[in-house]
Amino acid sequence: MAKVKIGVFGAGRGTTMMNQLYEHPDAELVAVCDKYVPALEEVRKTAEEKGAKVTLYERFEDFIRHDMDAVVLANYATEHAIYAVKCLNAGKHVMSEVLPCENIAQGVELIEAVERTGLVYTYAENYCYMDRTFEMWRRYKNGDIGEATYGEGEYIHDCLAIWPLVTYGERDHWRNRIHPFFYCTHSLGPLMAMTGLRPVKVTGFGAPPDYASRMLGLGLSPGSIEMVEMENGAVFKSIHGGLKREPGSINYELYGKKGCMETQRYGKENLNVWMEGDKACEGTLETYIPEKFIEKEMASRECGHDGSDFYATHFFVQKILGRPQGEWAIDVYQAVSMGICGILAYRSFMNGGVPEAVPDLRDPAQRDKYRNDRACTTPEAAGDQLIPMYPGEDKLPPVPDEAYERVRRIWEADQHYENEEQLRNLF
Ligand SMILES: NC(=O)c1ccc[n+]([C@@H]2O[C@H](COP(=O)([O-])OP(=O)(O)OC[C@H]3O[C@@H](n4cnc5c(N)ncnc54)[C@H](O)[C@@H]3O)[C@@H](O)[C@H]2O)c1
Repeated sequence: MAKVKIGVFGAGRGTTMMNQLYEHPDAELVAVCDKYVPALEEVRKTAEEKGAKVTLYERFEDFIRHDMDAVVLANYATEHAIYAVKCLNAGKHVMSEVLPCENIAQGVELIEAVERTGLVYTYAENYCYMDRTFEMWRRYKNGDIGEATYGEGEYIHDCLAIWPLVTYGERDHWRNRIHPFFYCTHSLGPLMAMTGLRPVKVTGFGAPPDYASRMLGLGLSPGSIEMVEMENGAVFKSIHGGLKREPGSINYELYGKKGCMETQRYGKENLNVWMEGDKACEGTLETYIPEKFIEKEMASRECGHDGSDFYATHFFVQKILGRPQGEWAIDVYQAVSMGICGILAYRSFMNGGVPEAVPDLRDPAQRDKYRNDRACTTPEAAGDQLIPMYPGEDKLPPVPDEAYERVRRIWEADQHYENEEQLRNLF
């Protein structure tokens, strides 16, 4: 069978997928698009080294006309749904990096585009495929801990030091514009994927923001917390953001009616699984380092993000080819459900913690209410429904242009952010 021809849109994070495609037996990288020319130059060099014929584009409008079957979206996190719909309408299968959509209206539009075109859409929530989370998924499906009752998902990543590297001093870079609530799928997504449960209600809580770093143009970095009620009554706590801690934490706990599973914050590799036996409150505890159980050899070659980066791309390709492993891919309904929990939790938080119902957008009858629900923190996407980037934003002085200029200087000097002293020395 001919290889699946894939183009990648966005040559930052997108290089991860490119590297997998160079090596994959069932797919080939045929085109890359990025408006940032130095990134394209890097792609050109690597493609030459790999002996791959990859056409480079600076404009999406030209890229999308390339002869290819599928597109990986690794462009700005706030623009995935917009470009996913464009790709689907052009007849291309889509794999989207996180996030799936920036507001609920986009979620509805995305679902309907997938249904209308009948093409494959998968969501590259790689945290579902880390060695430990993927093992938890496998064991949950196996019934080892019984039906879920409570779970915790945690993605703590203080990006202060690398903020110049990831925003390059652009005031309107999406990382400067979204509240961490929106970036919820690394923490919540694995719990939803493992259990297959759908969220029905969410309440949002926020840690106190760091206004000082904001005035340095260095992001707000608070923690965002969602309490999510699932369709069977289980409750999942999801926490994510830039709380102070090193190294960052990627941690999950899941309780069921017959046992529990948990990863570890420090000593990352281990998974603990406790299963109740025939007598109440008596059981067995296993502590072990999970082994990969699908395509072990290929997946071991690409170890980014605790072994997870290989699988999102691999399952996308398998799904396009109609093979059984494609069943592990995360579909558009799950993707949008994961994403809108953060959007609605932010709304709940802004309203003083009033719970928000989470619609089941798989059901066409529930969509009309949200078809024009554009509320988000990006002006172009929100239109007249723009909401503040954090509570009280409208009462504080605007961040001065100099703040972003400082960040740009650090980025141009190829440095990490250290402290205010460093900023003074750069001027
Ligand atoms: N899953 C993970 O572990 C993980 C890790 C890092 C980033 N990401 C995701 O990957 C995506 C990209 O992040 P990033 O770190 O590369 O940073 P980024 O968002 O700053 O970079 C996106 C790239 O896309 C290009 N681009 C955006 N819009 C374009 C357009 N209209 N035309 C041409 N080029 C365009 C930009 O020039 C840039 O090079 C984000 O959605 C982010 O959430 C995921």
